[in-house]
Amino acid sequence: MHQTTNKNKVVSQPKQEKLIGQEEKLPINDFVVGNAVEVMKSFPEGSIDLVVTSPPYDELRDYKGYHFDFEGMAKSLYAVMKKGGVVIWVVGDKIKNGNKSLTSFKQALLFQQVGFNVHDVMIYKKKNTPFMRSNAYTNCYEFMFVFTKSSPKTFNPLKTKTVRQGIEPLPHNKGADGVNKKIKKELKPEKTLTNIWEYAVGLHGSTSDRIAFEHPAIFPEKLAEDHILSWSEEGDVVFDPMCGSGTTCKMAMLNNRNYIGCDISEEYVEIAKKRLHEHKD
Ligand SMILES: C[S@@+](CC[C@H](N)C(=O)[O-])C[C@H]1O[C@@H](n2cnc3c(N)ncnc32)[C@H](O)[C@@H]1O
Repeated sequence: MHQTTNKNKVVSQPKQEKLIGQEEKLPINDFVVGNAVEVMKSFPEGSIDLVVTSPPYDELRDYKGYHFDFEGMAKSLYAVMKKGGVVIWVVGDKIKNGNKSLTSFKQALLFQQVGFNVHDVMIYKKKNTPFMRSNAYTNCYEFMFVFTKSSPKTFNPLKTKTVRQGIEPLPHNKGADGVNKKIKKELKPEKTLTNIWEYAVGLHGSTSDRIAFEHPAIFPEKLAEDHILSWSEEGDVVFDPMCGSGTTCKMAMLNNRNYIGCDISEEYVEIAKKRLHEHKD
């Protein structure tokens, strides 16, 4: 897991005073049970700052008997995002009969068609993945698509400590003689992360909240936190339309953002509510 630093990190209650006008109509710091496509119809347009979510991967046609309207989801998200808002869409591909579904790519293209910019395609690398296939390399990643409505209004780049620090002779621009001179320079103590983020998974990796594992497909809470810190400010509205065990909502709450969670399953919303309750002051 990478060590990140971000000066904005605080742990206290969300700032309600930043919510004015349209946002008052949102179910702020609450959960909703329902199909997110329908639920979003009740949200004012342009009211959400950040979405960090992952869809039910390739069980699109039959998730607990529910049909997953992917196109409806992308269009509704476009409507409810603020200009400059960011959607983080975490998705992997299943393999059927030796064939990767590429559902991830299809979804990314559809997001582009409905109007989002594909701002970045980041990688979520899993630290402890089991060996799975005898005729291919072990898959250890999922995509984290960064979709934006226009260019992102917030970017707080996360930093990591550099390996070497202090003063060192560094290569300097070549002169006309072609000689690569060296000058003494101070190495930077920190650098911005790359777009490949690595996380441990499982208990005490993804989270230490045992209740979260009552959901079968959680993502690491550090992943949600790193995106929340990168693409939103304190007091912003962070929405997870398919919140499952409430990972995004928990990390939004702990980082002084307002959260909204939605899931089609009442059972999962109950898990999310209990999980957040355990972390409230
Ligand atoms: C991959 S899981 C999300 C897990 C979550 N990121 C976490 O860390 O716990 C996908 C979730 O989407 C929910 N879901 C599927 N279709 C939905 C829909 N149309 N509207 C809302 N939620 C839906 C499922 O119930 C499931 O909990």
